Amino acid sequence: MSNDAKHKHHEVGTAFGIDIGGSGIKGAPVDLASGDFTGDRVRIPTPQPATPPAVARTVAEVVDSFDLDKDVPIGVTFPAVILHGVAQSAANVDDSWIGTDVAATIGAATGRQVVAVNDADAAGYAEVVYGAAKDVPGVVLVVTLGTGIGSALVVDGVLVPNTELGHLEIDGHDAESRASDAARDRDGLTFEQWAARLQRYFSVVENLFWPDLIVVGGGVSKKHEQFLPLLDLRTRIVPAGLRNAAGIVGAARLAATDRR
Ligand code: BGC
Repeated sequence: MSNDAKHKHHEVGTAFGIDIGGSGIKGAPVDLASGDFTGDRVRIPTPQPATPPAVARTVAEVVDSFDLDKDVPIGVTFPAVILHGVAQSAANVDDSWIGTDVAATIGAATGRQVVAVNDADAAGYAEVVYGAAKDVPGVVLVVTLGTGIGSALVVDGVLVPNTELGHLEIDGHDAESRASDAARDRDGLTFEQWAARLQRYFSVVENLFWPDLIVVGGGVSKKHEQFLPLLDLRTRIVPAGLRNAAGIVGAARLAATDRR
């Protein structure tokens, strides 16, 4: 084996990903070569109110339920803008997170070095490295439809973080307040009715970004057959490949990359 090959083998290895969501905090060790979990995922309900200390304690519980090397890279997702570890927004989380250093808070609670990333960025990056956009060159836009709308813009494999395209103002509304999966639920929409809102949303997005591919993630993406065929877009649009593992896998991968 050449030195180069040895080095690569060492670089790949395992990392640990944690997905902090509104209802659950989930973690699993990830094999970075395949993107597969190397152990069963652990899920603990998100404490309410989901304040920084309470969430950090729960993350530590998730981490402590695994026997992890002290220096394994750990990545956590968070549903807000994250600039250099610090949360800058709180669209669907407790306001007390704004200005909180998510990486440092969770790092202190777990006694480990932690990398924090936006939830959609993590999921989108995982789709590009291991999932539906694997080996797709050019501009890939991953959009997650959930409580909010998250976005990840990846250009030739490089993530442009914190794009926040769920908050585009469209027809006088914050886009996610009309087109998220939570909005579908709240307004009791059929998939046809929701698809009309998605059509408007994705038309604006494709006219602004001209991506080569759009990947749709979020829990509802498993029902893609009920709404993706109803959309009429110029851009190819496909469902996510990794489903709800994407956040954990992407956070693990980004944490490993960050410390390289
Ligand atoms: C937040 C984003 C997040 C998305 C999905 C939005 O409301 O502003 O940061 O990625 O929801 O959770």
